[in-house]
Amino acid sequence: MYRSHTCGELRASDINTDVTLSGWVHKSRDKGFVIWIDLRDRYGIIQLVFDEERTEAELLEKARSLGREFVIQVKGKVIERTSKNPNILTGDIEVLVQELVVLNQSLIPPFTLDDTTDGGDDLRMKYRYLDIRRRPVKNNLIFRSKVSMEVRKYLTNEGFIEVETPYLIKSTPEGARDFVVPSRMNEGQFYALPQSPQTFKQLLMVGGLDKYFQIVKCFRDEDLRADRQPEFTQIDCEMAFVEQEDILQVFEGLTRHLLMEINQKEVGPFPRLTYDDAMEKYGNDKPDIRFGMEFAELTNIAQHRDFAIFNSAEIVVGIAIPGGASYTRKEIDKLIDWIRRPQIGAKGMVYVKCNEDGSFKSSVDKFYNQEDLSTWAEKSSAKAGDLICILSGSIHETRSQLSALRMEMAERLGLRNPDHFAPLWVIDFPLLELDEESGNYHAMHHPFTSPKPGQLSLLETDPSAVRANAYDLVLNGNEIGGGSIRIHDKETQQIMFKHLGFTPEEAKAQFGFLLDAFQYGAPPHGGIAFGLDRLVAILGGQETIRDFIAFPKNNSGRDVMIDAPSLLDPEQLKELQLRTET
Ligand code: AMO
Repeated sequence: MYRSHTCGELRASDINTDVTLSGWVHKSRDKGFVIWIDLRDRYGIIQLVFDEERTEAELLEKARSLGREFVIQVKGKVIERTSKNPNILTGDIEVLVQELVVLNQSLIPPFTLDDTTDGGDDLRMKYRYLDIRRRPVKNNLIFRSKVSMEVRKYLTNEGFIEVETPYLIKSTPEGARDFVVPSRMNEGQFYALPQSPQTFKQLLMVGGLDKYFQIVKCFRDEDLRADRQPEFTQIDCEMAFVEQEDILQVFEGLTRHLLMEINQKEVGPFPRLTYDDAMEKYGNDKPDIRFGMEFAELTNIAQHRDFAIFNSAEIVVGIAIPGGASYTRKEIDKLIDWIRRPQIGAKGMVYVKCNEDGSFKSSVDKFYNQEDLSTWAEKSSAKAGDLICILSGSIHETRSQLSALRMEMAERLGLRNPDHFAPLWVIDFPLLELDEESGNYHAMHHPFTSPKPGQLSLLETDPSAVRANAYDLVLNGNEIGGGSIRIHDKETQQIMFKHLGFTPEEAKAQFGFLLDAFQYGAPPHGGIAFGLDRLVAILGGQETIRDFIAFPKNNSGRDVMIDAPSLLDPEQLKELQLRTET
Protein backbone atom coordinates (compact mmCIF):
# COMPACT_ATOMS: atom_id res chain seq x y z
CA MET A 1 0.00 0.00 0.00
CA TYR A 2 1.57 3.27 -1.08
CA ARG A 3 -0.42 5.43 1.28
CA SER A 4 -2.90 5.37 4.13
CA HIS A 5 -3.72 9.07 3.76
CA THR A 6 -3.17 11.86 1.26
CA CYS A 7 -0.96 14.85 2.01
CA GLY A 8 -3.88 17.21 2.48
CA GLU A 9 -6.16 15.42 4.88
CA LEU A 10 -4.42 15.01 8.25
CA ARG A 11 -5.44 17.32 11.10
CA ALA A 12 -4.83 17.76 14.83
CA SER A 13 -7.46 15.06 15.46
CA ASP A 14 -5.07 12.56 13.82
CA ILE A 15 -2.25 13.13 16.34
CA ASN A 16 -0.60 9.82 17.38
CA THR A 17 -1.90 8.01 14.27
CA ASP A 18 0.61 5.91 12.34
CA VAL A 19 0.43 6.89 8.68
CA THR A 20 1.95 6.00 5.32
CA LEU A 21 2.23 8.86 2.84
CA SER A 22 3.48 9.18 -0.74
CA GLY A 23 4.22 12.29 -2.73
CA TRP A 24 6.76 14.74 -4.09
CA VAL A 25 9.46 16.59 -2.13
CA HIS A 26 8.21 20.15 -2.46
CA LYS A 27 10.80 21.84 -0.29
CA SER A 28 13.31 20.84 2.35
CA ARG A 29 14.95 22.84 5.11
CA ASP A 30 18.06 21.44 6.75
CA LYS A 31 19.04 23.00 10.08
CA GLY A 32 21.71 20.36 10.76
CA PHE A 33 20.09 18.78 13.77
CA VAL A 34 16.63 18.83 12.22
CA ILE A 35 15.32 18.47 8.67
CA TRP A 36 11.85 19.50 7.58
CA ILE A 37 10.43 18.34 4.29
CA ASP A 38 7.23 19.58 2.70
CA LEU A 39 5.62 16.57 1.06
CA ARG A 40 3.13 17.40 -1.69
CA ASP A 41 0.47 15.59 -3.67
CA ARG A 42 -2.70 16.67 -5.49
CA TYR A 43 -4.50 17.11 -2.18
CA GLY A 44 -2.09 19.37 -0.32
CA ILE A 45 1.18 19.72 1.53
CA ILE A 46 2.22 18.14 4.81
CA GLN A 47 5.37 18.70 6.82
CA LEU A 48 7.66 15.75 7.55
CA VAL A 49 10.22 16.01 10.32
CA PHE A 50 13.49 14.18 10.94
CA ASP A 51 15.68 15.16 13.92
CA GLU A 52 18.82 14.00 15.69
CA GLU A 53 16.99 13.16 18.89
CA ARG A 54 14.25 10.95 17.46
CA THR A 55 15.53 9.84 14.04
CA GLU A 56 18.26 7.26 13.40
CA ALA A 57 21.43 8.74 11.87
CA GLU A 58 21.11 6.66 8.69
CA LEU A 59 17.55 7.88 8.06
CA LEU A 60 18.59 11.46 8.75
CA GLU A 61 21.32 11.13 6.11
CA LYS A 62 18.85 9.64 3.65
CA ALA A 63 16.47 12.56 4.21
CA ARG A 64 19.36 14.94 3.67
CA SER A 65 20.06 13.41 0.24
CA LEU A 66 16.55 14.03 -1.12
CA GLY A 67 16.26 16.53 -3.94
CA ARG A 68 13.35 18.67 -5.08
CA GLU A 69 10.57 16.65 -6.76
CA PHE A 70 11.92 13.26 -5.66
CA VAL A 71 8.98 10.88 -5.27
CA ILE A 72 9.05 9.29 -1.83
CA GLN A 73 7.04 7.12 0.50
CA VAL A 74 7.26 7.59 4.27
CA LYS A 75 5.88 5.85 7.31
CA GLY A 76 5.63 7.75 10.55
CA LYS A 77 3.52 9.15 13.35
CA VAL A 78 1.39 12.29 13.30
CA ILE A 79 2.59 14.70 16.02
CA GLU A 80 1.67 18.22 17.06
CA ARG A 81 3.79 20.99 15.59
CA THR A 82 5.58 23.35 17.91
CA SER A 83 5.25 26.30 15.56
CA LYS A 84 1.96 26.05 13.71
CA ASN A 85 1.34 27.25 10.15
CA PRO A 86 -2.14 28.77 9.85
CA ASN A 87 -1.72 29.11 6.06
CA ILE A 88 -2.15 25.42 5.29
CA LEU A 89 -4.85 23.02 6.40
CA THR A 90 -2.32 20.54 7.80
CA GLY A 91 -0.50 23.36 9.58
CA ASP A 92 -1.17 22.15 13.16
CA ILE A 93 0.64 18.87 12.72
CA GLU A 94 3.68 17.18 11.20
CA VAL A 95 4.76 13.59 10.63
CA LEU A 96 7.74 12.25 12.52
CA VAL A 97 9.22 9.88 9.96
CA GLN A 98 10.34 6.39 10.84
CA GLU A 99 10.83 4.88 7.36
CA LEU A 100 11.64 6.44 4.02
CA VAL A 101 11.61 4.87 0.54
CA VAL A 102 12.69 6.77 -2.55
CA LEU A 103 10.20 5.73 -5.23
CA ASN A 104 11.84 7.81 -7.93
CA GLN A 105 14.45 10.50 -8.28
CA SER A 106 14.03 13.75 -10.18
CA LEU A 107 16.20 16.12 -12.11
CA ILE A 108 16.12 19.66 -10.78
CA PRO A 109 12.98 21.18 -12.34
CA PRO A 110 13.66 24.00 -14.81
CA PHE A 111 11.40 26.41 -12.89
CA THR A 112 10.03 26.70 -9.39
CA LEU A 113 6.81 24.80 -8.80
CA ASP A 114 5.20 27.34 -6.49
CA ASP A 115 2.00 29.36 -6.88
CA THR A 116 4.01 32.06 -8.61
CA THR A 117 6.84 30.76 -10.72
CA ASP A 118 9.97 32.08 -12.35
CA GLY A 119 9.20 29.98 -15.46
CA GLY A 120 8.33 31.88 -18.64
CA ASP A 121 5.44 30.78 -20.84
CA ASP A 122 7.50 28.73 -23.28
CA LEU A 123 9.37 26.87 -20.57
CA ARG A 124 6.20 26.10 -18.67
CA MET A 125 4.55 24.76 -21.84
CA LYS A 126 7.58 22.62 -22.70
CA TYR A 127 7.41 21.05 -19.27
CA ARG A 128 3.65 21.27 -18.91
CA TYR A 129 3.57 18.09 -16.77
CA LEU A 130 5.63 19.98 -14.18
CA ASP A 131 3.52 23.11 -14.57
CA ILE A 132 0.44 21.01 -13.81
CA ARG A 133 2.00 20.15 -10.42
CA ARG A 134 1.66 23.85 -9.52
CA ARG A 135 -1.42 24.60 -7.47
CA PRO A 136 -3.04 27.26 -9.71
CA VAL A 137 -2.78 25.11 -12.85
CA LYS A 138 -3.94 21.98 -11.05
CA ASN A 139 -6.84 23.88 -9.51
CA ASN A 140 -7.91 25.18 -12.92
CA LEU A 141 -8.09 21.62 -14.25
CA ILE A 142 -10.06 20.47 -11.22
CA PHE A 143 -12.36 23.47 -11.73
CA ARG A 144 -12.90 22.53 -15.36
CA SER A 145 -13.75 18.97 -14.41
CA LYS A 146 -16.30 20.26 -11.93
CA VAL A 147 -17.95 22.48 -14.55
CA SER A 148 -18.14 19.58 -17.05
CA MET A 149 -19.68 17.39 -14.39
CA GLU A 150 -22.34 19.99 -13.56
CA VAL A 151 -23.11 20.39 -17.28
CA ARG A 152 -23.62 16.63 -17.62
CA LYS A 153 -25.75 16.59 -14.48
CA TYR A 154 -28.04 19.38 -15.64
CA LEU A 155 -28.48 18.17 -19.22
CA THR A 156 -28.97 14.55 -18.19
CA ASN A 157 -31.66 15.69 -15.74
CA GLU A 158 -33.32 17.57 -18.59
CA GLY A 159 -33.48 14.35 -20.62
CA PHE A 160 -30.55 14.94 -22.98
CA ILE A 161 -28.68 11.92 -24.35
CA GLU A 162 -24.90 12.13 -24.81
CA VAL A 163 -23.96 10.82 -28.25
CA GLU A 164 -20.50 10.71 -29.81
CA THR A 165 -20.16 11.83 -33.41
CA PRO A 166 -17.19 11.06 -35.69
CA TYR A 167 -14.00 13.08 -35.99
CA LEU A 168 -13.00 11.87 -39.44
CA ILE A 169 -15.61 13.63 -41.53
CA LYS A 170 -16.17 16.02 -44.38
CA SER A 171 -15.93 19.79 -44.12
CA THR A 172 -18.54 21.41 -41.85
CA PRO A 173 -18.55 25.12 -42.56
CA GLU A 174 -18.24 27.23 -39.40
CA GLY A 175 -16.24 29.99 -41.01
CA ALA A 176 -12.71 28.72 -40.38
CA ARG A 177 -10.34 26.56 -42.40
CA ASP A 178 -10.40 22.80 -41.94
CA PHE A 179 -7.68 20.62 -40.53
CA VAL A 180 -7.46 17.70 -42.92
CA VAL A 181 -6.34 14.09 -42.57
CA PRO A 182 -5.16 12.09 -45.57
CA SER A 183 -6.76 8.71 -46.14
CA ARG A 184 -4.25 5.91 -46.86
CA MET A 185 -6.93 3.57 -48.13
CA ASN A 186 -8.51 6.12 -50.45
CA GLU A 187 -5.76 7.48 -52.58
CA GLY A 188 -5.62 11.25 -52.86
CA GLN A 189 -8.63 11.73 -50.59
CA PHE A 190 -8.89 13.53 -47.29
CA TYR A 191 -11.08 13.65 -44.25
CA ALA A 192 -11.70 16.98 -42.55
CA LEU A 193 -11.75 17.20 -38.76
CA PRO A 194 -15.05 18.71 -37.56
CA GLN A 195 -15.17 22.46 -36.97
CA SER A 196 -18.26 21.40 -35.02
CA PRO A 197 -20.59 18.37 -35.10
CA GLN A 198 -23.26 20.60 -36.67
CA THR A 199 -24.57 18.35 -39.45
CA PHE A 200 -24.36 15.20 -37.32
CA LYS A 201 -26.41 16.65 -34.51
CA GLN A 202 -29.06 17.68 -37.03
CA LEU A 203 -29.05 14.13 -38.39
CA LEU A 204 -29.53 12.84 -34.83
CA MET A 205 -32.72 14.92 -34.71
CA VAL A 206 -33.84 13.36 -38.00
CA GLY A 207 -32.97 10.09 -36.24
CA GLY A 208 -35.52 10.95 -33.58
CA LEU A 209 -33.22 11.30 -30.55
CA ASP A 210 -35.05 14.50 -29.61
CA LYS A 211 -32.46 15.91 -27.15
CA TYR A 212 -28.75 15.45 -27.79
CA PHE A 213 -25.62 16.78 -26.15
CA GLN A 214 -21.94 16.08 -26.36
CA ILE A 215 -18.86 17.54 -24.72
CA VAL A 216 -16.77 17.41 -27.82
CA LYS A 217 -13.51 18.51 -29.39
CA CYS A 218 -13.77 20.84 -32.41
CA PHE A 219 -10.95 21.80 -34.75
CA ARG A 220 -10.56 25.13 -36.52
CA ASP A 221 -7.57 26.34 -38.43
CA GLU A 222 -7.81 30.06 -37.64
CA ASP A 223 -5.67 32.81 -36.15
CA LEU A 224 -5.24 32.30 -32.45
CA ARG A 225 -6.00 34.69 -29.61
CA ALA A 226 -6.41 34.52 -25.85
CA ASP A 227 -9.90 33.08 -26.32
CA ARG A 228 -9.18 30.81 -29.28
CA GLN A 229 -7.39 27.49 -29.66
CA PRO A 230 -7.11 25.38 -32.83
CA GLU A 231 -8.68 22.49 -30.94
CA PHE A 232 -11.19 23.44 -28.31
CA THR A 233 -14.19 21.91 -26.60
CA GLN A 234 -17.86 22.59 -27.14
CA ILE A 235 -20.88 21.66 -25.10
CA ASP A 236 -22.84 20.87 -28.23
CA CYS A 237 -26.61 20.54 -27.98
CA GLU A 238 -29.62 20.02 -30.24
CA MET A 239 -33.34 19.65 -29.63
CA ALA A 240 -36.28 18.66 -31.83
CA PHE A 241 -39.72 20.32 -31.88
CA VAL A 242 -38.45 23.57 -30.42
CA GLU A 243 -38.68 27.26 -31.12
CA GLN A 244 -36.09 29.84 -30.18
CA GLU A 245 -37.84 30.50 -26.88
CA ASP A 246 -37.56 26.85 -25.81
CA ILE A 247 -33.82 26.82 -26.46
CA LEU A 248 -33.24 30.11 -24.64
CA GLN A 249 -35.13 28.80 -21.60
CA VAL A 250 -33.24 25.50 -21.36
CA PHE A 251 -29.79 27.01 -21.80
CA GLU A 252 -30.43 30.02 -19.65
CA GLY A 253 -31.30 27.34 -17.10
CA LEU A 254 -27.99 25.57 -17.68
CA THR A 255 -26.03 28.80 -17.30
CA ARG A 256 -27.93 29.73 -14.17
CA HIS A 257 -27.33 26.24 -12.73
CA LEU A 258 -23.58 26.63 -13.33
CA LEU A 259 -23.42 30.12 -11.84
CA MET A 260 -25.20 28.79 -8.75
CA GLU A 261 -23.33 25.50 -8.30
CA ILE A 262 -19.88 26.73 -9.32
CA ASN A 263 -19.89 30.38 -8.25
CA GLN A 264 -22.74 30.50 -5.74
CA LYS A 265 -24.23 33.41 -7.70
CA GLU A 266 -27.91 33.89 -8.23
CA VAL A 267 -28.69 35.83 -11.41
CA GLY A 268 -32.05 37.07 -12.58
CA PRO A 269 -33.59 36.54 -16.04
CA PHE A 270 -31.00 37.25 -18.74
CA PRO A 271 -31.56 40.48 -20.64
CA ARG A 272 -32.11 40.10 -24.38
CA LEU A 273 -30.70 42.54 -26.87
CA THR A 274 -31.19 42.46 -30.60
CA TYR A 275 -28.04 42.45 -32.68
CA ASP A 276 -28.94 45.92 -34.01
CA ASP A 277 -29.41 47.31 -30.50
CA ALA A 278 -26.17 45.72 -29.29
CA MET A 279 -24.28 47.36 -32.14
CA GLU A 280 -25.96 50.71 -31.54
CA LYS A 281 -25.48 50.73 -27.76
CA TYR A 282 -22.11 49.03 -27.45
CA GLY A 283 -20.65 48.84 -30.97
CA ASN A 284 -20.21 45.14 -30.38
CA ASP A 285 -22.27 41.95 -30.67
CA LYS A 286 -20.81 40.60 -27.42
CA PRO A 287 -21.19 43.56 -25.09
CA ASP A 288 -19.86 43.59 -21.57
CA ILE A 289 -22.84 44.92 -19.62
CA ARG A 290 -21.23 44.82 -16.18
CA PHE A 291 -20.84 48.57 -16.57
CA GLY A 292 -22.58 51.43 -18.42
CA MET A 293 -20.75 53.80 -20.76
CA GLU A 294 -23.39 53.19 -23.41
CA PHE A 295 -22.90 54.78 -26.81
CA ALA A 296 -24.64 58.07 -27.51
CA GLU A 297 -25.29 58.73 -31.17
CA LEU A 298 -24.64 62.41 -31.74
CA THR A 299 -24.82 62.40 -35.53
CA ASN A 300 -28.01 64.45 -35.77
CA ILE A 301 -27.09 66.95 -33.10
CA ALA A 302 -23.47 67.49 -34.09
CA GLN A 303 -23.67 68.12 -37.82
CA HIS A 304 -25.18 71.60 -37.74
CA ARG A 305 -21.96 73.62 -37.44
CA ASP A 306 -18.97 74.19 -39.62
CA PHE A 307 -16.95 71.19 -38.40
CA ALA A 308 -16.09 69.27 -41.56
CA ILE A 309 -14.89 66.08 -39.84
CA PHE A 310 -18.29 65.50 -38.22
CA ASN A 311 -20.25 66.81 -41.19
CA SER A 312 -18.67 64.32 -43.57
CA ALA A 313 -19.03 61.39 -41.17
CA GLU A 314 -21.61 58.63 -41.49
CA ILE A 315 -21.82 58.50 -37.72
CA VAL A 316 -20.75 60.63 -34.74
CA VAL A 317 -20.82 58.69 -31.50
CA GLY A 318 -19.54 59.21 -27.98
CA ILE A 319 -19.19 57.69 -24.53
CA ALA A 320 -18.89 59.33 -21.14
CA ILE A 321 -15.90 58.23 -19.11
CA PRO A 322 -16.68 58.52 -15.39
CA GLY A 323 -14.33 60.95 -13.66
CA GLY A 324 -12.44 61.63 -16.91
CA ALA A 325 -12.71 65.43 -16.71
CA SER A 326 -9.74 65.43 -14.38
CA TYR A 327 -7.42 63.91 -17.02
CA THR A 328 -4.54 66.20 -17.93
CA ARG A 329 -3.89 67.25 -21.50
CA LYS A 330 -1.03 64.76 -21.54
CA GLU A 331 -3.25 61.91 -20.38
CA ILE A 332 -5.84 62.70 -23.03
CA ASP A 333 -3.14 62.87 -25.70
CA LYS A 334 -1.99 59.42 -24.60
CA LEU A 335 -5.54 58.15 -24.93
CA ILE A 336 -5.72 59.58 -28.43
CA ASP A 337 -2.43 57.86 -29.27
CA TRP A 338 -3.93 54.63 -27.94
CA ILE A 339 -6.95 54.71 -30.24
CA ARG A 340 -4.79 55.73 -33.19
CA ARG A 341 -2.67 52.59 -32.90
CA PRO A 342 -3.04 50.45 -36.03
CA GLN A 343 -4.87 47.74 -34.05
CA ILE A 344 -7.68 50.21 -33.31
CA GLY A 345 -7.26 52.53 -36.26
CA ALA A 346 -9.16 55.70 -35.27
CA LYS A 347 -7.97 58.86 -36.98
CA GLY A 348 -8.55 61.08 -33.99
CA MET A 349 -10.85 61.83 -31.09
CA VAL A 350 -12.93 64.80 -30.05
CA TYR A 351 -13.35 65.24 -26.31
CA VAL A 352 -15.51 67.28 -23.98
CA LYS A 353 -14.62 67.83 -20.35
CA CYS A 354 -17.72 68.23 -18.19
CA ASN A 355 -16.44 70.54 -15.49
CA GLU A 356 -17.68 70.40 -11.91
CA ASP A 357 -19.09 73.96 -12.23
CA GLY A 358 -21.41 72.87 -15.07
CA SER A 359 -19.33 74.41 -17.85
CA PHE A 360 -17.72 72.47 -20.71
CA LYS A 361 -14.25 72.55 -22.22
CA SER A 362 -13.82 70.71 -25.49
CA SER A 363 -11.30 70.16 -28.24
CA VAL A 364 -13.80 71.67 -30.68
CA ASP A 365 -14.68 74.89 -28.81
CA LYS A 366 -13.96 76.77 -32.03
CA PHE A 367 -16.99 75.18 -33.65
CA TYR A 368 -19.45 74.41 -30.86
CA ASN A 369 -20.85 76.56 -28.06
CA GLN A 370 -21.71 75.63 -24.48
CA GLU A 371 -25.30 74.88 -25.40
CA ASP A 372 -24.22 72.41 -28.10
CA LEU A 373 -21.86 70.68 -25.68
CA SER A 374 -24.55 70.56 -23.05
CA THR A 375 -26.87 68.63 -25.45
CA TRP A 376 -24.08 66.15 -26.15
CA ALA A 377 -23.55 65.69 -22.42
CA GLU A 378 -27.24 65.08 -21.90
CA LYS A 379 -27.40 62.61 -24.77
CA SER A 380 -24.42 60.65 -23.46
CA SER A 381 -25.64 60.80 -19.83
CA ALA A 382 -22.39 62.52 -18.86
CA LYS A 383 -22.25 63.94 -15.35
CA ALA A 384 -20.13 66.76 -13.99
CA GLY A 385 -16.59 65.37 -13.74
CA ASP A 386 -16.92 63.07 -16.78
CA LEU A 387 -15.06 63.15 -20.06
CA ILE A 388 -17.01 62.58 -23.29
CA CYS A 389 -14.92 60.84 -25.94
CA ILE A 390 -16.33 61.18 -29.44
CA LEU A 391 -15.34 59.34 -32.61
CA SER A 392 -16.70 59.77 -36.11
CA GLY A 393 -16.45 58.13 -39.52
CA SER A 394 -18.04 55.11 -41.18
CA ILE A 395 -20.59 53.28 -39.03
CA HIS A 396 -18.88 49.93 -38.83
CA GLU A 397 -15.35 51.17 -38.12
CA THR A 398 -16.32 53.95 -35.75
CA ARG A 399 -18.45 51.68 -33.59
CA SER A 400 -15.76 49.07 -33.40
CA GLN A 401 -13.12 51.69 -32.44
CA LEU A 402 -15.32 53.20 -29.75
CA SER A 403 -16.14 49.75 -28.45
CA ALA A 404 -12.41 49.05 -28.05
CA LEU A 405 -12.03 52.34 -26.17
CA ARG A 406 -15.01 51.51 -23.95
CA MET A 407 -13.50 48.15 -22.97
CA GLU A 408 -10.06 49.66 -22.40
CA MET A 409 -11.42 52.41 -20.16
CA ALA A 410 -13.53 49.91 -18.20
CA GLU A 411 -10.41 47.82 -17.67
CA ARG A 412 -8.40 50.86 -16.52
CA LEU A 413 -11.18 51.98 -14.21
CA GLY A 414 -11.52 48.52 -12.68
CA LEU A 415 -15.11 48.10 -13.91
CA ARG A 416 -14.60 44.57 -15.26
CA ASN A 417 -14.96 42.79 -11.95
CA PRO A 418 -14.36 39.06 -12.63
CA ASP A 419 -16.53 38.13 -9.67
CA HIS A 420 -19.57 39.90 -11.14
CA PHE A 421 -21.45 37.92 -13.79
CA ALA A 422 -23.59 39.69 -16.37
CA PRO A 423 -25.00 37.26 -18.95
CA LEU A 424 -27.25 38.29 -21.83
CA TRP A 425 -28.73 36.92 -25.02
CA VAL A 426 -28.03 38.67 -28.29
CA ILE A 427 -30.78 37.74 -30.75
CA ASP A 428 -32.02 38.54 -34.26
CA PHE A 429 -28.64 38.36 -35.96
CA PRO A 430 -28.47 39.13 -39.67
CA LEU A 431 -28.69 35.90 -41.65
CA LEU A 432 -25.99 36.91 -44.11
CA GLU A 433 -22.86 38.96 -43.98
CA LEU A 434 -21.29 40.69 -46.95
CA ASP A 435 -17.66 39.87 -47.51
CA GLU A 436 -16.25 43.29 -48.45
CA GLU A 437 -13.36 41.79 -50.39
CA SER A 438 -15.15 39.26 -52.59
CA GLY A 439 -18.52 41.00 -52.65
CA ASN A 440 -20.15 37.65 -51.78
CA TYR A 441 -22.53 36.92 -48.97
CA HIS A 442 -21.76 34.25 -46.42
CA ALA A 443 -23.82 32.90 -43.57
CA MET A 444 -23.20 34.88 -40.40
CA HIS A 445 -23.84 31.83 -38.21
CA HIS A 446 -23.77 28.87 -40.59
CA PRO A 447 -25.69 27.84 -43.74
CA PHE A 448 -28.15 25.67 -41.78
CA THR A 449 -29.61 28.58 -39.84
CA SER A 450 -33.20 29.48 -40.71
CA PRO A 451 -34.34 32.97 -41.59
CA LYS A 452 -37.00 34.57 -39.39
CA PRO A 453 -40.48 33.44 -40.44
CA GLY A 454 -41.73 35.22 -43.55
CA GLN A 455 -38.35 36.65 -44.52
CA LEU A 456 -37.25 34.03 -47.04
CA SER A 457 -38.43 36.06 -50.01
CA LEU A 458 -36.37 39.05 -48.85
CA LEU A 459 -33.30 37.00 -49.79
CA GLU A 460 -33.97 37.89 -53.43
CA THR A 461 -34.45 41.61 -52.92
CA ASP A 462 -32.51 42.71 -49.85
CA PRO A 463 -30.29 39.91 -48.52
CA SER A 464 -28.60 41.97 -45.82
CA ALA A 465 -31.98 42.87 -44.28
CA VAL A 466 -32.90 39.24 -43.57
CA ARG A 467 -32.72 38.37 -39.87
CA ALA A 468 -31.91 34.90 -38.63
CA ASN A 469 -33.41 32.70 -35.95
CA ALA A 470 -29.98 32.85 -34.34
CA TYR A 471 -28.80 33.75 -30.84
CA ASP A 472 -25.57 34.12 -28.90
CA LEU A 473 -25.05 33.82 -25.18
CA VAL A 474 -22.69 36.51 -23.95
CA LEU A 475 -21.04 36.54 -20.54
CA ASN A 476 -18.90 39.45 -19.34
CA GLY A 477 -18.04 40.58 -22.87
CA ASN A 478 -17.29 37.10 -24.22
CA GLU A 479 -19.31 35.03 -26.65
CA ILE A 480 -19.64 31.80 -24.75
CA GLY A 481 -22.30 30.18 -26.90
CA GLY A 482 -24.17 30.46 -30.14
CA GLY A 483 -26.89 28.62 -31.96
CA SER A 484 -29.96 28.80 -34.11
CA ILE A 485 -33.21 27.26 -35.20
CA ARG A 486 -32.35 25.25 -38.29
CA ILE A 487 -33.78 24.92 -41.72
CA HIS A 488 -35.46 21.50 -41.83
CA ASP A 489 -36.79 21.26 -45.36
CA LYS A 490 -34.88 20.57 -48.51
CA GLU A 491 -36.28 23.42 -50.58
CA THR A 492 -35.40 26.17 -48.11
CA GLN A 493 -31.95 24.67 -47.58
CA GLN A 494 -31.40 24.67 -51.33
CA ILE A 495 -32.45 28.33 -51.57
CA MET A 496 -29.95 29.14 -48.81
CA PHE A 497 -27.15 27.31 -50.58
CA LYS A 498 -27.98 29.17 -53.78
CA HIS A 499 -27.69 32.54 -52.01
CA LEU A 500 -24.40 31.50 -50.49
CA GLY A 501 -23.03 30.98 -53.98
CA PHE A 502 -23.20 27.16 -54.22
CA THR A 503 -24.26 25.69 -57.54
CA PRO A 504 -26.83 22.87 -57.11
CA GLU A 505 -24.04 20.40 -57.99
CA GLU A 506 -21.71 21.80 -55.33
CA ALA A 507 -24.47 21.78 -52.74
CA LYS A 508 -25.27 18.17 -53.57
CA ALA A 509 -21.63 17.10 -53.48
CA GLN A 510 -20.95 18.72 -50.12
CA PHE A 511 -24.27 18.42 -48.30
CA GLY A 512 -26.26 15.89 -50.33
CA PHE A 513 -26.54 13.64 -47.26
CA LEU A 514 -28.29 16.40 -45.31
CA LEU A 515 -30.60 17.35 -48.17
CA ASP A 516 -31.46 13.66 -48.56
CA ALA A 517 -32.17 13.31 -44.84
CA PHE A 518 -34.52 16.29 -44.95
CA GLN A 519 -36.73 14.29 -47.34
CA TYR A 520 -37.40 11.62 -44.72
CA GLY A 521 -39.44 13.46 -42.15
CA ALA A 522 -36.95 15.86 -40.58
CA PRO A 523 -38.59 17.43 -37.49
CA PRO A 524 -38.29 21.15 -36.77
CA HIS A 525 -35.15 21.48 -34.65
CA GLY A 526 -32.58 23.86 -33.26
CA GLY A 527 -29.69 24.00 -30.86
CA ILE A 528 -26.71 25.74 -29.45
CA ALA A 529 -23.05 25.13 -28.67
CA PHE A 530 -21.17 26.61 -25.73
CA GLY A 531 -17.42 27.08 -25.83
CA LEU A 532 -16.50 25.06 -22.76
CA ASP A 533 -12.98 26.48 -22.50
CA ARG A 534 -14.30 30.04 -22.54
CA LEU A 535 -17.13 29.29 -20.16
CA VAL A 536 -14.77 27.65 -17.66
CA ALA A 537 -12.23 30.49 -17.90
CA ILE A 538 -14.88 33.15 -17.27
CA LEU A 539 -16.52 31.27 -14.42
CA GLY A 540 -12.99 30.95 -13.05
CA GLY A 541 -12.62 34.74 -13.24
CA GLN A 542 -10.18 34.79 -16.17
CA GLU A 543 -10.25 35.24 -19.93
CA THR A 544 -7.27 33.23 -21.17
CA ILE A 545 -8.53 29.78 -22.07
CA ARG A 546 -5.03 28.27 -22.25
CA ASP A 547 -4.84 28.32 -18.46
CA PHE A 548 -7.80 25.95 -18.32
CA ILE A 549 -6.59 23.47 -20.94
CA ALA A 550 -4.26 20.67 -19.82
CA PHE A 551 -2.08 20.68 -22.93
CA PRO A 552 -2.76 23.83 -24.96
CA LYS A 553 -1.13 25.00 -28.16
CA ASN A 554 0.88 28.22 -28.33
CA ASN A 555 0.03 31.20 -30.53
CA SER A 556 1.60 29.57 -33.57
CA GLY A 557 -0.57 26.50 -33.05
CA ARG A 558 2.36 24.44 -31.75
CA ASP A 559 2.51 21.99 -28.91
CA VAL A 560 6.05 22.77 -27.77
CA MET A 561 6.12 19.83 -25.35
CA ILE A 562 5.66 17.08 -27.93
CA ASP A 563 6.95 19.32 -30.73
CA ALA A 564 3.94 19.14 -33.01
CA PRO A 565 3.23 19.69 -35.82
CA SER A 566 6.29 17.96 -37.23
CA LEU A 567 7.57 16.56 -40.48
CA LEU A 568 6.54 13.06 -41.52
CA ASP A 569 9.17 10.61 -42.58
CA PRO A 570 9.37 10.00 -46.32
CA GLU A 571 8.04 6.45 -46.00
CA GLN A 572 4.88 7.66 -44.34
CA LEU A 573 4.45 10.44 -46.89
CA LYS A 574 4.78 7.94 -49.67
CA GLU A 575 2.29 5.59 -48.11
CA LEU A 576 -0.19 8.47 -47.92
CA GLN A 577 0.56 9.45 -51.51
CA LEU A 578 1.31 12.94 -50.29
CA ARG A 579 4.61 13.35 -52.03
CA THR A 580 6.26 11.06 -54.48
CA GLU A 581 10.01 10.62 -54.43
CA THR A 582 11.81 12.44 -57.20
P1 AMO B 1 -19.97 28.69 -33.03
O1 AMO B 1 -19.06 28.69 -34.18
O2 AMO B 1 -20.58 29.99 -32.60
O3 AMO B 1 -21.23 27.73 -33.27
O4 AMO B 1 -19.23 28.04 -31.80
C1 AMO B 1 -19.83 27.89 -30.54
C2 AMO B 1 -18.94 28.42 -29.44
O5 AMO B 1 -17.66 27.78 -29.45
C3 AMO B 1 -16.68 28.67 -28.95
N1 AMO B 1 -15.56 28.76 -29.91
C4 AMO B 1 -14.26 28.64 -29.59
N2 AMO B 1 -13.65 28.47 -28.41
C5 AMO B 1 -12.31 28.37 -28.38
N3 AMO B 1 -11.53 28.41 -29.49
C6 AMO B 1 -12.09 28.58 -30.71
N4 AMO B 1 -11.31 28.60 -31.80
C7 AMO B 1 -13.51 28.71 -30.80
N5 AMO B 1 -14.40 28.88 -31.81
C8 AMO B 1 -15.62 28.90 -31.26
C9 AMO B 1 -17.34 30.01 -28.74
C10 AMO B 1 -18.60 29.89 -29.56
O6 AMO B 1 -19.65 30.68 -29.05
N6 AMO B 1 -22.34 24.57 -34.68
C11 AMO B 1 -22.52 25.89 -34.12
C12 AMO B 1 -23.42 25.88 -32.91
C13 AMO B 1 -24.88 25.70 -33.23
O7 AMO B 1 -25.37 26.35 -34.19
O8 AMO B 1 -25.55 24.96 -32.50
C14 AMO B 1 -21.16 26.45 -33.72
O9 AMO B 1 -20.15 25.77 -33.72
O10 AMO B 1 -17.66 30.15 -27.36
